[in-house]
Amino acid sequence: MLQVPQNIPRDRSLETDGLADVKFGAEIREKEFLLRPGVAFFNHGSYGTVPRRVLKLQQEYSYEREEHPDFWTRLNSKRYLDQARAALAQFVGADLENLQLVVNATQAINSVVKSFPFAKGDALLHCSYTYGAIANLCEDFTSRVKPDVESVNVKLSFPPKSEDDVVKKYEEILDQHPNIKLAVIDHITSPSSIILPVKRLLDLCHSRGIKVVVDGAHCLGQLSLNLEDLGADAYVANAHKWLYTPRGCAILYLKKESHAWARPLSTSWQIGRSLDMQFFDQGTLDHTPLICSLHGLEFYQALGGMDRVVGYTRAMADEAVEVIQRELGLKPAQLPKSMEAPNLRLVEFPPLKKFPYSVENLWILHKTLFGEASVFGLIIPVEGKFYLRISTQVYTSKEDIAALVQVLKNFFKDNV
Ligand SMILES: Cc1ncc(COP(=O)(O)O)c(C=O)c1O
Repeated sequence: MLQVPQNIPRDRSLETDGLADVKFGAEIREKEFLLRPGVAFFNHGSYGTVPRRVLKLQQEYSYEREEHPDFWTRLNSKRYLDQARAALAQFVGADLENLQLVVNATQAINSVVKSFPFAKGDALLHCSYTYGAIANLCEDFTSRVKPDVESVNVKLSFPPKSEDDVVKKYEEILDQHPNIKLAVIDHITSPSSIILPVKRLLDLCHSRGIKVVVDGAHCLGQLSLNLEDLGADAYVANAHKWLYTPRGCAILYLKKESHAWARPLSTSWQIGRSLDMQFFDQGTLDHTPLICSLHGLEFYQALGGMDRVVGYTRAMADEAVEVIQRELGLKPAQLPKSMEAPNLRLVEFPPLKKFPYSVENLWILHKTLFGEASVFGLIIPVEGKFYLRISTQVYTSKEDIAALVQVLKNFFKDNV
């Protein structure tokens, strides 16, 4: 007979001392993050990075798990996970029963697409700026898994002229393909970093009976969300990007009506039971990142929440773009203000003598530019041009921006 030791479960919360008044920039970086000293890091957007305090709690959960793997798996991890689910549901304006925690956005969107009740001749829509891995999912699904479902791609221009222009392009494609039944719509495109007018696109799709899964991988912590109001059939967002959560953790919101068909990617022991049990138990996995989303959120809130965090990161992104333009003459991508992501900006590289535009040259270019330098940013190819994508975080400082400018100056001296 299993006996639960008295000291289990040990509900935890983040120690928040000093967070409300910590100075953003170099001070918070040194106190709270593990980034290598002396490296100006401008690519938070790809994988995020986790504060020391959150990692410490993740380690405590891991130790608790190893003390008694059965009590952990059978009794306590779901309890902890539900506390995190409840906090995140409140943060994103979702009813608890509509919100699940999964390991990443890729898995969440796979779950939705692969469980959607397509019929022969239906179509799945994505767009030219859908994240590469998700575009691959759409293509693979419609060619290998369900070859009787068509894949449709809406081509958007870069940079987009206006929200109206994007909506018009969607209208045209929906007119041409009345068989579209599910659309994957990005909220912030990546790596091209455009906020799409999701509410308008959702309303448009819904007016034609099309269901929508929104890929908001970059939105949790960056944009204010109210998922019940938004009304997407499914909404996916990573906590491990902008919500200080260990990799991998994502939310998967499923509107009540979607519960009838949406299922986890892995069918496992809980088949036929409640959706939260099915999503929780997709085989043996490490639930500590999912559980720690509670503490990533506590960290975010203790810093002052969206007002203070995004207030700072947006200002730093504006400043980085402005300084780079002034010092180096590089143009920012010309996006309408309403389509600009707070923490993600693109600046256009001039044509480079030694690195003609090609996707093959991309990693050689990264290595040459940043391999030996104490700076890192992401270079991305869009429509025949290289851009630098700048991600800003609470640890970004003016000194980091100056270091980036210096590295770019040195590089352009020999290459433009
Ligand atoms: C728009 C978008 N969708 C999906 C993903 C995939 O996220 P993950 O690798 O965590 O599954 C990313 C990752 O950068 C993304 O930017």
